Amino acid sequence: MGEADQIRIEALVEDARVHRDVYASEAVFKLEMERIWGRAWLYVGHVSQVPAPGDFITTTLGLTPVVMVRHTDGDTVHVLQNRCGHRGAIVCYQRSGHAKSGLFRCPYHGWIFRSDGSLRTTPSPRGYEDVGFDRDDPAFGMPRLPRVGIYRGFVFASLSETGPDLETFLGETRATIDNMVDRAPDGEVEVTGRVGHRFRHRNNWKFFIENLHDAMHPMVAHAATGDAVRQYVEAHPDTDDGRPEAEVIAPFGGSYDFFDEMGFVGLPLGHGYMGGSKSIFSHYEMYPDYLASMHAVYGEERTREILSYNKHNTLVYPSCTVRDGIQSIRVVKPVSVNETVIESWTFRLKGAPQDMLDRTLRYSRLINSPASCVGPDDLSCYDRIQEAAETRAIQWIDLHRHLGRDEQHGDTLTAIGTSDLALRNQYRAWLDYMVVD
Ligand SMILES: [Fe+2]
Repeated sequence: MGEADQIRIEALVEDARVHRDVYASEAVFKLEMERIWGRAWLYVGHVSQVPAPGDFITTTLGLTPVVMVRHTDGDTVHVLQNRCGHRGAIVCYQRSGHAKSGLFRCPYHGWIFRSDGSLRTTPSPRGYEDVGFDRDDPAFGMPRLPRVGIYRGFVFASLSETGPDLETFLGETRATIDNMVDRAPDGEVEVTGRVGHRFRHRNNWKFFIENLHDAMHPMVAHAATGDAVRQYVEAHPDTDDGRPEAEVIAPFGGSYDFFDEMGFVGLPLGHGYMGGSKSIFSHYEMYPDYLASMHAVYGEERTREILSYNKHNTLVYPSCTVRDGIQSIRVVKPVSVNETVIESWTFRLKGAPQDMLDRTLRYSRLINSPASCVGPDDLSCYDRIQEAAETRAIQWIDLHRHLGRDEQHGDTLTAIGTSDLALRNQYRAWLDYMVVD
């Protein structure tokens, strides 16, 4: 990047608008992979996905394919580049599996790697004797990612050797992860199923995370869904049948006031959340067995504290969004400038009765799945903007709403829920990552 390009990046983001190139330029996407996705801590998976030595999952961090594996010591979880140190071929194509004896074998020339990424053997080793080949050189292994961190079972990794440590990076978003885990009577959560929902979006990765805190769209984009739920609830006033579904969907037809009161909190590094004490999923009296098990472990007061903490999507910028109250994580996987895969993972609260898992899965089915009532509404909106950006039908995307009305508390900015602060806060971080001094 020359100086001229540097200036161009800075020119893409203004206080109240962003240029269409942030969604449509391949050069910008390439730089994002390097400067944002190549530096931030990125969500990899949960330790429960690799319970036994040799268990692994594969995923991508930005455009980098990786393997998360439980090492043969039984304790360590390694995140390795899914690349053979010989010629760079992808080693594991399965999404998850078990490496027998903790060994990975490249399908091309049969180089074998240990679960810490080190090279164990090459076939016909004579060819490498006395030729200056050092088997112990990590360059010939499956390289370990420079930094791996685990927070309460959630595994993150960074492609960069430098930067803040994981806890500092997560900052206040840790409280959302804490709350999700604290909701388990046994104090732990675990992933359900071997694969999360995968939802392929033919548009730029930023639309999904921008939409998480866009409170001006539900009453328009999801109007039909909200109306249908309201009619259902009115038709069934005295029965609990169907109420759980209504509880999930009703807020998507919420009013402007409802979302304004929920509020938005913009944190450093692009992180942020809506809600706090008021969101959805707060009627725990319909789950008496769960309440009883929580009371037994935590007592009534602490249980009330845990269950009344209820945020509506906590964004850990740029790679995932966490919902404590419904135990789900959605993971952002950019593929190209106009293609993204969003994965939804659901978690079981250990020690909680089955109906709590049912409600988590219900949410996933009704809101996050490609066949849901809500997700496709959003997708069609992102597609329309992507098309406008690519065809140059527009130059700028507007972010004026409630500009200049944010409240500053230390390094945190707050606003009413329908403010565009949510987007402006992300672009503040975007610029910080993208413009390198
Ligand atoms: Fe939406």
